[in-house]
Amino acid sequence: MNIAVVILAAGLGTRMKSSLPKVLHKVCGKPMVRLVAETAAGLKPEKTIVVVGPESEGIRTALSGLPIEFCVQKKPLGTGDALKIASASLGGFEGDVLVLGGDTPLISVQTLKLFLAHHKKMREDISLLSFRITGSHAYGRIIRKGNRVDAIVEDRDANEEQKKIDEVNSGIYAIRHSCLDLIKKIKENKAKGEYYLTDIVKLAVDKGLRVGGHALSDELELSGINTRHELHAAEKFMQQKIVSGWMSKGVSFIDAGAVFIHQNVELEADTLIYPNVHIEGSTTIGHGCVIYPGVRIANCIIGNNVTIKDSTVIEDSTVMNGAAVGPFAHIRPKSVIGASVKVGNFVEIKKTVLGEGTKASHLSYLGDAEIGKNVNIGAGTITCNYDGKNKNKTIIEDNVFIGSDTQLIAPVTVKKGSYVGAGSTITKDVPAESLAVSRADQRIIHGWAKKKK
Ligand code: UD1
Ligand code: CA
Repeated sequence: MNIAVVILAAGLGTRMKSSLPKVLHKVCGKPMVRLVAETAAGLKPEKTIVVVGPESEGIRTALSGLPIEFCVQKKPLGTGDALKIASASLGGFEGDVLVLGGDTPLISVQTLKLFLAHHKKMREDISLLSFRITGSHAYGRIIRKGNRVDAIVEDRDANEEQKKIDEVNSGIYAIRHSCLDLIKKIKENKAKGEYYLTDIVKLAVDKGLRVGGHALSDELELSGINTRHELHAAEKFMQQKIVSGWMSKGVSFIDAGAVFIHQNVELEADTLIYPNVHIEGSTTIGHGCVIYPGVRIANCIIGNNVTIKDSTVIEDSTVMNGAAVGPFAHIRPKSVIGASVKVGNFVEIKKTVLGEGTKASHLSYLGDAEIGKNVNIGAGTITCNYDGKNKNKTIIEDNVFIGSDTQLIAPVTVKKGSYVGAGSTITKDVPAESLAVSRADQRIIHGWAKKKK
């Protein structure tokens, strides 16, 4: 289909009471405007234009990687003015223009396709995507004369009778390119000092053009986000959809309403997720895993049959098959937890690789380290990686035993098969198959305690 998409995203969003532009507020971890732009990309439009305000750095960053052109609306003079600015950039484009609100993030590509199919089939000049709603709300009301749409009246301009109309405007329109010129005829709404795009309907009807309204979806999908309350409702709705989708694919949840999973996360069957777990960014989790309560995993690759115990944080790292991490562990970026590794309570790991079968079970800090296979890291081991200026590397080769309460002063290497005695401070490389101890010999003073008394 030959379409161009225009996403309106230049409004101030004052009702959010935020210093962040409204369309940058996130739903399930993604800025609203990005959700809309990604959905629109599913239609394979010829062109996508996003209308932004003068301070648009954040929005441009949020949309990076998508094939988009930007138009700047210097002053937020309303949705009509925003589309007028975008249409000036459409150049020789002659298809239909699909207008979307950057604050309507839950819209699906299926609904948009259905809407465009209606627009085409009915040969309409302007089509509106509407929905039905009851209770108090501030959406524009669709005024019909018989079956056909006659106008849209904004909530604040509606009289008592019009306010009762339950069919409302989603802010999504399909407009024949040749009708875009009508925008120039929109007059300023004196009360608000804005040009309302909704006024294009009456202008088109007065010219005898075909205007249709199609209620193809519901409030859940088509709600516009103007307030924190609506943002929260959108988050809940999308979260429920994501979790329900994973249940259909064989993932178990103890309490599906108390789990937070971002849109790009991938999960596999027979993984069990406890409440209050947050899985963020582009994380993938394999099959047969158990994720216990209070865990946050962001941008990680987690293998199969992995156990992540309570109150653990894992960021930008990889955890391989059969490993167990936590409780109360912190895996910081660029770490690799090898297969069947055990990382226990109060262990912090940063930019460190742990080889297969290695154990760091209690109270340790391992940073900038390369640790081999089947290594035992005793309780209280610390890699002293920072000398006040630089971060230095610790290398521990395969089958090494590091006794409890050891400090490894990096840069330092412990070669394979060696032992380090408990309580040692290791400042020099340890050769293979040897024992390194660095602590004062124990003295016994007989009868000392008796004498003291
Ligand atoms: C708009 C519609 C209303 C509809 C509702 C659906 C108008 C006048 N009203 O109201 O009929 O029921 O959406 O959610 O269109 N924007 C700009 N530049 C501006 C003003 C807004 O780009 O000068 C952008 C905003 O960033 C936003 C979108 O347009 O993404 C909608 O603007 P908003 O102010 O939220 O309109 P509503 O009052 O919700
Ligand atoms: Ca809105």
